[in-house]
Amino acid sequence: MKVRTPSGTRDMRSVWWEGGRLCLIEQRLLPRTLKVVRLSTVEKAAKAIEDMAVRGAPAIGAAAAYGLALAKPGKLGEAAERLARTRPTARDLFRAIEYVKAAVKGGASPLDAADEYVETVVEACKRIGENGADLIDNGYKILTHCNAGALATVDYGTALAPMRVAKSRKKRFFVFADETRPRLQGAALTAWELVNEGIDHAVIADNAAGFFMANGEIDLVITGADRITRNGDAANKIGTYEKAVLAHENSIPFYIAAPMTTFDLSLECGDEIPIEERSEDEVLELGGKRVAAKGARARNPGFDVTPERYVSGYITEFGILKARDIAKLG
Ligand code: MRU
Repeated sequence: MKVRTPSGTRDMRSVWWEGGRLCLIEQRLLPRTLKVVRLSTVEKAAKAIEDMAVRGAPAIGAAAAYGLALAKPGKLGEAAERLARTRPTARDLFRAIEYVKAAVKGGASPLDAADEYVETVVEACKRIGENGADLIDNGYKILTHCNAGALATVDYGTALAPMRVAKSRKKRFFVFADETRPRLQGAALTAWELVNEGIDHAVIADNAAGFFMANGEIDLVITGADRITRNGDAANKIGTYEKAVLAHENSIPFYIAAPMTTFDLSLECGDEIPIEERSEDEVLELGGKRVAAKGARARNPGFDVTPERYVSGYITEFGILKARDIAKLG
């Protein structure tokens, strides 16, 4: 991804391995500060995932893969268990752990396995961009939710990848980025990526999407996903479901962009997806300051499930799939 710094534009990934350590962009400090943290223990890698210094389904998979490369000799199983306890919803996290464990069993080193896993994911996202770019016509206004960009995926993004490719093909289009309460991934992260890429956009309050849809100002919705089941139901950041219902109501195509590592063919439907519930404070506070009355309580599910009937198609590295194609993948 392109990152603008005071000393010029540089190309960066959100997660990588360097000098024997897991390196990642500390996403909680963006957009104010671009800081790289370098982690040398499994526990630190697990904490970074749990506390969302790194977030986004493919990116936490990559961090877990490299996290396993930090395990002490003979401690890979223990490390895998710790990393698997960090966040429950994104399939990619578990896929990455399974991949590295299987490769090590087959004789690979954990680091080689992690590198291979990460490169596969980066390549998949690149292809998602190429496969999805044709959905974007000149003049389109596109809505996206949360951050499904390079920050969330190591590079390119899922939902943002077709936009990057469309931009490189000189298409004219405009992006509406939902702010995405409670953690504001849209305002803080998606807008930062769009600024860096020079893509025209506006951040909107989560509650504003229906207004723009009803006024004919949105032509297409593209979001990412954290886990997609055999029937095509898809868990993604809380608020995605209501955007899908609104898109349906307003006859607007709603696409989900995701690599194969997000698909969970062991689950029949969305009811089976474990949904993370995070701290009440994320809802009761804004920017670290309490906004709700003292004594007020909150509920904070991190994800919701969009039923497949609202999804026009799944933009993957293998092309744009329909829900009925998913079960045939394996
Ligand atoms: O809680 P987060 O920020 O990890 O949630 C991220 C999302 O819901 C993204 O939309 C999803 O992981 C797709 S990322 C390519």
